[in-house]
Amino acid sequence: MHALSVRPGQPNSIQHDDVPLPPAADGGVLVRALALGLCGTDREIISGAYGVAPPGHDRLILGHESLGRVEEAPAGSGFAAGDLVVGIVRRPDPVPCPACAAGEWDMCRNGQYTERGIKERHSYGSEFWRIEAPFLVRLDPALGRLGVLLEPTSVVAKCWEQVLRIGRRTASWQPRVVLVTGAGPIGLLAAMMARQYGFETHVFDRNKDGPKPVMVHAIGAVHHSGQLGDLAPDIIIECTGAVPVVLDVVNRVAPSGIVCLAGVSAGGRPVEFDAGLFNRNMVLHNGVVFGSVNANRRHYKAAAAALAKADREWLDGLINRRVPLARWQEAFERRDNDIKIMLEFASE
Ligand code: BGC
Repeated sequence: MHALSVRPGQPNSIQHDDVPLPPAADGGVLVRALALGLCGTDREIISGAYGVAPPGHDRLILGHESLGRVEEAPAGSGFAAGDLVVGIVRRPDPVPCPACAAGEWDMCRNGQYTERGIKERHSYGSEFWRIEAPFLVRLDPALGRLGVLLEPTSVVAKCWEQVLRIGRRTASWQPRVVLVTGAGPIGLLAAMMARQYGFETHVFDRNKDGPKPVMVHAIGAVHHSGQLGDLAPDIIIECTGAVPVVLDVVNRVAPSGIVCLAGVSAGGRPVEFDAGLFNRNMVLHNGVVFGSVNANRRHYKAAAAALAKADREWLDGLINRRVPLARWQEAFERRDNDIKIMLEFASE
């Protein structure tokens, strides 16, 4: 069967392979891939900077934003042939740590978790994949190909859940203004959820024109490409990982405000930063800055609910390039105005 694989650690080793069908050990449910969403993590893996092949293999089948249709499911699994499904990315560590033992593998404490298409497990980037039923999520069939947005939305749903849980530390907190930095898929989905919660939403993005400002305006949010002036949001979801942006937002948040860091930076390039001012602001204003990664089943459910409520045409605008598997190289070309690129595995 067709698959895209890389040799982790080796830059630009991505190739289109013919690989054996997935082993039964991967899980009882057999799924035919419909589509795969591509993200920054995939690019990082292709560049050789991230990713680990499964034990005993030197190549890793790439891709973790899945969408497929069940081909075969064991009786009693809760799934049936024809179901539209998405696979959860992370698997709990084998020990397991207290978080993984409680089904919160997204909060794994010992780092021994595995991730499909990223860390020690082959992915969903093959014509067929197998999966354990407890790690499969069924989608509303009406969502169709837009279901490929479930995984990135799950990551955003976790950010929002954590922000609102942290906010409950004080009974009187009434957040009103949200800033999202970055207008890639994660930023736009975070802004979409901010609007669903009814917040005044601002999106900071370096693009002055093109589809991103249009997408921001379409959900009733304000687009900023220049200086943010004295905007002091109650909640900030930082999705760029760009160091100057990160350093700006941690000092900009309003008193009792919460900053969620959701973008991964490269590290290794120290910059000057007024740590004293940062500490002073955090202490004197009861500030919180925290990081968020991955998602557990609860977040996939919240994401499915958010997608169900969203405007389908707007969601469709997020996936601005659909590339058939036969032309997979095109999917990885960088083009101006790209938001989410979807590789199409099978047409129905
Ligand atoms: C994925 C997460 C994953 C993270 C770190 C992200 O791109 O969406 O599921 O935990 O990368 O590997």
